[in-house]
Order: sequence, then structure tokens, then C-alpha cells
Amino acid sequence: MSHVSHSQVSVTIPDLQRKAAAGQKLVMTTAYDTVTARIADAAGVDILLVGDSVGNVCLGFDNTLPVTMDMMCHHLAAVARSAPRALLLADMPYLSYHVGEAEAVRNAGRLIQLGAQGVKLEGGARRVPVIRALVDAEIPVMGHLGLTPQSYHRMGGHKVQGRAGKAAVQLLEDALRLQEAGCFAVLLEGIPAELAARVTGELEVPTIGIGAGAGCSGQVLVFHDILGLTGDVPPKFVRVYLDAFAKLRDALAEWSGDVRDGRFPGPQESFALPEEARLALDHWLPQAPETARTEPGLPSVPATPV
Ligand code: KIV
Repeated sequence: MSHVSHSQVSVTIPDLQRKAAAGQKLVMTTAYDTVTARIADAAGVDILLVGDSVGNVCLGFDNTLPVTMDMMCHHLAAVARSAPRALLLADMPYLSYHVGEAEAVRNAGRLIQLGAQGVKLEGGARRVPVIRALVDAEIPVMGHLGLTPQSYHRMGGHKVQGRAGKAAVQLLEDALRLQEAGCFAVLLEGIPAELAARVTGELEVPTIGIGAGAGCSGQVLVFHDILGLTGDVPPKFVRVYLDAFAKLRDALAEWSGDVRDGRFPGPQESFALPEEARLALDHWLPQAPETARTEPGLPSVPATPV
């Protein structure tokens, strides 16, 4: 039996590690549904992350803490159905890996069974036991250090991390511990560029940066931020490549105007009536309700239209 899918060969973790070792930058973005996944995959990104940022980007929460496993599974399944070529990763949401290794393995396994090729989780040395348990269960793990959004309350909001000497050293040591525990890559978020470059230099596994300067092995940005979809002022570390919010708004406003002014739909968006049906309608005469009800074979109440 062949284990090779012939539809399309998807990116694997060893592919990414080889690419990074050859000095090629890795490209990662988020996807939350089939459409965003198809767009990002068509653009040729290496990694698609179903991030728990779905909470603030798509679901209207202020931070990622309310995101549950069920929410993650719902969005991951939609992304997986797009059968992307890119490596597909899923975030482990808050509390899905904090209350014991067995529960973490079960939760991560659920994400893998839905199509994720690996999971991402936040935190440093204290996550080592859980990372070991996941790796032991054949679940590839990407670590996430620096500005870890699930530490929102401890950090006092989304704030740049690793600026003090002790914190910078701690972050470097944490990165080494994650690598030792078996992480195949480490995401560095919201830290000074020089610190991220130093961590990247010390690690053998690739780093993916967001708000962490140009010295990482790759970069990630949230899909909606790159495309200007949120309509919000973007954070400093984002470069916006399209004002999609304004463009989509204007297109929808144009359609609304066409509807209101009778320009939509036109003949090209309508279905023509065949001649035979037109003749039948032309010959139709309204019948008195009494006659209709007593005629044999006709239902006593009109059938519900489909
Ligand atoms: O959830 C998310 O989108 C992330 C970002 C770092 C990309 O983790």
C-alpha cells in the first residue's frame, strides 16, 4: 500500500528544516477558514497556522484566552478541508495543555486527527514536560516565546518582552530548553531584534519571528493584518500590503447601490424561462379555491415551495 498522496505533495517539517538550514527564509501566516487558507496556500506560503488569534481576529474577543478546543477544532477542520500544500499547524488554546500531560496529548491528538501536522504552544522551561509528552506521542511541537498572548494578564497586556538583561537571558535559556525537549521550531514574538537574532544563532532548529526583527529563520504575520482586513490601525511590526477593508467595503457599497437602484440582478445574473413554461403560464387561469379543493388527486392544501 502506498502512503504517498498523489493529489499534491504537502510541505513537511523536514522540508522546512532543510530550507532553513540552507539559509532560505520560511514564510508563515494564519488561516481560519477555507477561503483564507486557499488564498494563503495559492500565494505559496510554507506554513499555515490556525492560530488562537482566531479569537481576536474573527470572533470579537479582546484576547485569545476565551478560545476553546471546540473553537479551534471548528476552524482547523475548515482549513484542513482546503487540503493545503503548506504545512498545517494548529495552536493549542489556553487551558488545553496546562492541566496535565495526558490531557495535553489528548487535545493535541484531536488537532492532529483533524489534519494538523503539528501544534504550537506558548511558554518556556515550565512547558518541557508537556512538550516531551507530545513529542513522545509523535506530535511535532513549535514552541512560542516572548510576547505570549495567553500570558495577557501576567504581562499586563500585549507588551514587548525580553528588554531587561535578566529577561533576555531567560528567554535565550528557555529557547534552548524547548529545543532540547524536542520542539522542531520556536516562534519568537514581540522581542528586540537583536535578542531574536542571538537566539536564532544559538539554536539548531529554525525560529519564526513576529515583531522580532529580521534575524529569525522565518517570519509570520496574521493574514488579516497583512491584507488590512481588520480596519484597525496595525501594530508597529505589521506591514500592510493591501487596504482590503476599504476595497471590500467599497465593492459591497457598490453592490448595495446596484440593488437599490434596480441595476442588480441584470439578465446575465438571471435564469431564462423556457418557452414551454412561458406558454403554460400564459394559459393558466386562476381557479376558485372551492374547485381546487374538490378536484380529485389534488392536495387539499398547496404544497410548500422548495
Ligand atoms: O495565534 C496566532 O496567530 C499566533 C501568531 C504568533 C501568529 O500565534
